[in-house]
Order: sequence, then structure tokens, then C-alpha cells
Amino acid sequence: MSEVFLEAKHISKSFVGVKALDDVDLTIGRGEIHCLIGENGSGKSTLIKIIGGVHKADSGTITVEGKQLSGSQAIESIRSGVQIIYQDLSLFPNLTVAENISVNQMLESNQQTVQWKEVRETARKALEEIGEAHISLDERVENLSMAKKQIIAISRALTQNAKLIIMDEATSAITKEEVDHLFSIIQNLKKKGIATLFVSHKLSEVFEISENITIIRDGKKVGVYPTSELDHDRLVYIMTGRKLEAEPYVYDTKMKQKSPLLEVKSFSKELQYQDISFSLQPGEILGITGLIGSGRTEIVQSIFGLNPADSGTMYMNGEEVKISNPRDAIRHGIALLPEDRLNQGLFDAQSIGDNIVITILKNFLKKIGLLDTTKQKRSANDWIERLKIKTPDGNLPVNSLSGGNQQRVVLAKWLAINPKVFILDGPTIGIDIGSKHTIHDIIRDLAREGMGIIMISDEIQEVLDNCNRILLMSKGRIIKEIDDARTTTSEELYEIVTGAASAGVEA
Ligand SMILES: Nc1ncnc2c1ncn2[C@@H]1O[C@H](COP(=O)(O)OP(=O)(O)OP(=O)(O)O)[C@@H](O)[C@H]1O
Ligand SMILES: [Mg+2]
Repeated sequence: MSEVFLEAKHISKSFVGVKALDDVDLTIGRGEIHCLIGENGSGKSTLIKIIGGVHKADSGTITVEGKQLSGSQAIESIRSGVQIIYQDLSLFPNLTVAENISVNQMLESNQQTVQWKEVRETARKALEEIGEAHISLDERVENLSMAKKQIIAISRALTQNAKLIIMDEATSAITKEEVDHLFSIIQNLKKKGIATLFVSHKLSEVFEISENITIIRDGKKVGVYPTSELDHDRLVYIMTGRKLEAEPYVYDTKMKQKSPLLEVKSFSKELQYQDISFSLQPGEILGITGLIGSGRTEIVQSIFGLNPADSGTMYMNGEEVKISNPRDAIRHGIALLPEDRLNQGLFDAQSIGDNIVITILKNFLKKIGLLDTTKQKRSANDWIERLKIKTPDGNLPVNSLSGGNQQRVVLAKWLAINPKVFILDGPTIGIDIGSKHTIHDIIRDLAREGMGIIMISDEIQEVLDNCNRILLMSKGRIIKEIDDARTTTSEELYEIVTGAASAGVEA
């Protein structure tokens, strides 16, 4: 390996009731692109926070360029050249691009007055360094796309002389093209000797970008491997200790009703989607896929009353329904697990259990108006068990959970409503590859019990493995409907979708 830049040795860390890390080592070379992978709750973010001086390890050492850090000061890590980009990016939405990029440097410099010329100059240089000089310095960050925000976060890291940039699940909310762009930035940083530690549950990305992979399981290091010595199946096996195989979902046509559970007729919305019609029967898992920007998220938001259509009608069990806001939708038994779940209003300081049952509290009211807390706890615990949410105690605050486990709480919260139609926009975003199967199994069980499911996913393979019927979208239109998913392959679907996107089909 190249010269060592950072070395973490024998790191252990416990939280109340949980040993998050147990004697873990991690070594990153100068300019190396290294991936850290492991299942939800295996300790990745905890290790990163220890390297960043946010958490103090119970034992172990962190050495950067041969110098040992004292281990509990974020500023010390930053000064040694380590920069962390968290999933929420920690930007200030109402400040401009220039201000966001230069803010840390401004704080560090300790000057009494802000030197606006310097602020702009610093920001301009940082953007130029990664080939992004076209982004306007005066734009407010809240107006930027997720991918652009990420570029701002990287630029900010560069203003502080970063030699290692750590990205904790940086790609879960950006499109395939944006991921490619991010990867080219990472490769350019590498040429300048800047290393990247990359955390992602998308194994295809891990294979594409990394030189070496450190795998952890249940807080212990399993091993470190050159990427070239692994393939997908072997990596999954090392990570989970299991071999994972998917069976296609078979729809039982006996469940078919005369009038479909849900029917959408000629939905249109200017600039978003045109003439969308489809139906959903109980027991069906209907997949919708297409590149991001194909209009699929906008359509399901319309069904859920978040983004009303300009025209078109909707029926449930043959009767027309009017849905103008999410409350109407929930009343009709429609639930939506949104794509953007980071901002999905989990109540951070409240318990895991309360967050799960919050939408169905009225079910636990006793006659005299008091809550039956025993019943409420039992229901919450059922979901914790069913979704395998990793916690020693459902009474702990939800922010004690790992990222992927918080995602499961959001999923549980919607499942607890027991909807008739459940729309899942990216059901397994942020979920590790082993647990994906658990969640897919739950979705299948719900369908078999008569729920109608709409599943949107970027991953064509996920749609193919779990849906009996598939709609392919491009530029706001349904370009093909596949009645039996077993008759097609992911290559065929990918070709149709990308072919339509480049053929210039107009919305
Ligand atoms: N502040 C905290 N208080 C209590 N427990 C915590 C805290 N932070 C993390 N944990 C626990 O430590 C373990 C490791 O969590 P961590 O966030 O490091 O996992 P992760 O590998 O990043 O998972 P994911 O892929 O879901 O993001 C989990 O069991 C988690 O619940
Ligand atoms: Mg994490």
C-alpha cells in the first residue's frame, strides 16, 4: 500500500447496553479510496465519529501522519486534515454558496469582521479546484439540488486543507449520473493526494470506486481486502455470513377483484407527467421504475395528495375518490413511504416505540380517555421485532439508532397504520443488503394478506425480484407495461428505460 495517512487501532466503544465497536482497526493510505462496509448498526458511523473526534473511544488510538490524536476534539482531527461529510451535509440552507464554503475558515480565522472579498475568493478557489466554478457563489444553498449541496460540502472540506474526506452514505439521495460525477471528483482528489473513505450500502458503487474494502460485522472487523480480490457474492457472504438468493414474487390471481383496489385514470400534471393510467389489485406488488426525473415520484405524491394532479380521476374499489391532501389519503387507507426520509420528521428525542405508534395513538385510547400504554408498548415492540430494529430497548431515544435502523422506524410507522394501498418510494434506501431481504419478505407477506403495494425503485433488479407487474417510465410517461415480471430480464428493462431517455421522447 501507499504511505499510511491514517491509522485507527484497537478502537472500542460502548453505548448504554450496546458494544458498538470492539477492537476495530482501520488503515488508510495517502490518496487511497477506501470503503467501509457492514450491515445497519455494525458500527460504521460510530467509527467515523471517533476518527472525527465527535465521540471519544473507550480504548484504542488514532494516528494521523504518524502523530497520535488526543481523541476527543473535533478541531484536532480537522487540523490534521480529516474532514467528514455527514449524510445531512450540515450546511446552512439560508446562507449563500460562498458563505457556506467559507464558513469554517471564517470561524477558524477569528477575525472580528467578515472579509467578504476573502469569503468569495476562498469559495471560488475551492469550487475551481474540483472543476465546479460554474456554480453561482450568490445562490442560496436551499435552492440547490442534493448533488450540488454535496459539492458545496466537499468544497468546504477543501478550504480546510483536507487530506482525507470521509463520506458517510453520501450517495443515497442522488441520481446515477450525479454519482458518476461525484466519483470523478473523488478520482481527481486522489490525483492530488487526497484520500476518501466512502460508506455505502450500494455494493455496485463500492466495487466501482474503491481500492480496498474494510468490512465490519457487529462492531468487529472481519477483514480488509483489495477490491480486486472480491466479487459481489463473496463480499455479501463475508459481510452477512449468509448467501442471499431472491425468489420472484408470484401474484395469486384469485385475489383479483372486479373493480381494482386503486385505479388512476388519465392523470396529467404540467411539466411533470402526462396521461398516466394504471390499476392495482389487492395482493399485487406493482413496480414503477425509470431514471430519476422520469416523473415517478411526482405521480405517487399526487396519489397521496401532496402534489395534486391538474386533471384525471382516481377510484378505489370502483368508487371515485378525491384526494387533495395527505389526510384525505390516509383516511382512504393510502400510505406513502417517501423517498426523502432524512427529513421525515422522526421525533429525535422521543423513544423508538413512541415514534412507531405516534400515528395510531388513538387506537390505544381507553374508554376514559387514557392511553393504554401496555398495549401501545406491545404494538411498538412487535414492529421492532418484525423489522429487526437493532436496539437493546424500545424506550431509548430514536436518535440512538444507526441510520438504517432509523429508516426502519419510519417504515414501521407507516406500516402500523395498516393501509390498504401502500406506496413505497425507494423501500430499501439506506438499508444494508442482508436486511433488504427481510424488508422484501415483509412487503410480500403484506401483499399476500391483501394489501396493494406500489414499489418505486432506482434499482431495476429490486423491482424485478419483488414485483409481479412493472410500469416503465420515461420523461413523464408510461412507456411500457410488463404484465408478468417473470417474462423479462433486468438487462431488457434497463435497455428500454435508457433507450427511451436518449431517444428524446417528449413529455
Ligand atoms: N448516540 C448513541 N447512543 C446509543 N447507541 C448508539 C449511539 N450511536 C450509535 N449507537 C449504537 O451503536 C451501534 C452502531 O451504530 P452505527 O450508527 O455506528 O451503525 P452503522 O454501521 O453506521 O449503521 P447504518 O448502516 O444503519 O448507518 C448501533 O447499535 C447503534 O444503535
Ligand atoms: Mg451509519
